[in-house]
Amino acid sequence: MKPLEINQKGKVLIIDDAPSVAKFTSEVLKKEYQIRIASSGEEALEILHTYHPDIVLLDIVMPGMSGIEVCQKIRKDPGFSFMKIIMVSSKTHIEERIEGYEAGADDYIGKPFKREELLAKVRVFFRLKLAEDQLHKMNEKLNEQVRIRTDQLIDSEKMATIGKLTAGIVHNLNNPLQAILGYSQLIELKLPENPYTQKLKASAMLMKEMIATILTTSRKENSIRVDNIDLNALLMNQLEMMKANNFFKHQIRAETDLNPIPLYKGVYSHFSQSFGNLIKNAVDAMYKTDKKILSVQTRAGEHDIQITITDTGCGMDPETIPKIFDPFFTTKPLSAQDNEPTGTGIGLASTQEMIESYGGKIEVDSQPGIGSRFIVTLPLTTT
Ligand SMILES: Nc1ncnc2c1ncn2[C@@H]1O[C@H](COP(=O)(O)OP(=O)(O)OP(=O)(O)O)[C@@H](O)[C@H]1O
Ligand SMILES: [Mg+2]
Repeated sequence: MKPLEINQKGKVLIIDDAPSVAKFTSEVLKKEYQIRIASSGEEALEILHTYHPDIVLLDIVMPGMSGIEVCQKIRKDPGFSFMKIIMVSSKTHIEERIEGYEAGADDYIGKPFKREELLAKVRVFFRLKLAEDQLHKMNEKLNEQVRIRTDQLIDSEKMATIGKLTAGIVHNLNNPLQAILGYSQLIELKLPENPYTQKLKASAMLMKEMIATILTTSRKENSIRVDNIDLNALLMNQLEMMKANNFFKHQIRAETDLNPIPLYKGVYSHFSQSFGNLIKNAVDAMYKTDKKILSVQTRAGEHDIQITITDTGCGMDPETIPKIFDPFFTTKPLSAQDNEPTGTGIGLASTQEMIESYGGKIEVDSQPGIGSRFIVTLPLTTT
């Protein structure tokens, strides 16, 4: 959590029927705080609706509405619950203090008080109030993030259902396609030189491959089985999938340098999600830059495999880099228009968790205005 910054002037409301006491209190505090004075409980309750003090200094014994009553009324209003109330009274009886606390006061100061004592007490409560405000804001932000994440999970649940339906439909396309392929082969036999027959057959073959890719990918994505994975093919698949994104398809130049690497033992979806996250981040980073080149490289060492994803995006400054693997750290808005990238900040946190569960690691190298490079290293086990 960030340290508290006390650069704003706190607001104090002094409620006292004795003008001399109110004046003295105001004199003590006015250098550090904004001050308003109310000479009765009734006046104070009026003021509270327009002036939202951080601290209320409340005299207990007043004609008309007593301090205890004022305190009870303030505490009954949820809009005022954040205020800190310090009771002020010449009576120092313990019963009266208890009555004050029961009415909702936060603390008590006995009259006559020393200016240092008053100032110290107000400072402590103002700090506390700021800390509570900060906590409240963080809580609201967290709630918002949870809400958005829940929506995303519901969406991904819907997508999973759509995915299953699509897989079924795609599977059914196989039958008519098989007929097209069969007849095109028949025509080819009769008209072997006809260029149209060749084209028809080639297109049908391409479609068959596409159907096979969709079916095997969806089968693997839905499985938590440990397989021997061809990471090069997986990366090509991820790039292919990204083409569903128009920005990627039309504006990004994707370069690959995929070298022979051994099959890697693991759960397919762990790697498709991890590399999918890294590729998506790289694409997001190039949303506003002129140069838009995404490079994916693989290479095998003696003891490990390295997968490197490089972009020519906005890059990151040295202060940002240590935070990017923190859950919920994001520099992207939660929602946006015009296809601007959005984020919830859990992509890299989950990617790191998955890669580390295989004994791997992720390293980052980035420069603002130049781009970023994410290097994933996965150990090769000898078993
Ligand atoms: N390739 C990159 N170039 C520049 N900044 C990056 C890159 N990858 C990650 N970042 C920074 O790290 C932050 C965290 O990334 P992470 O993937 O965890 O979350 P996100 O992309 O913001 O949201 P999401 O949860 O949707 O992935 C990003 O918001 C961005 O600021
Ligand atoms: Mg991300």
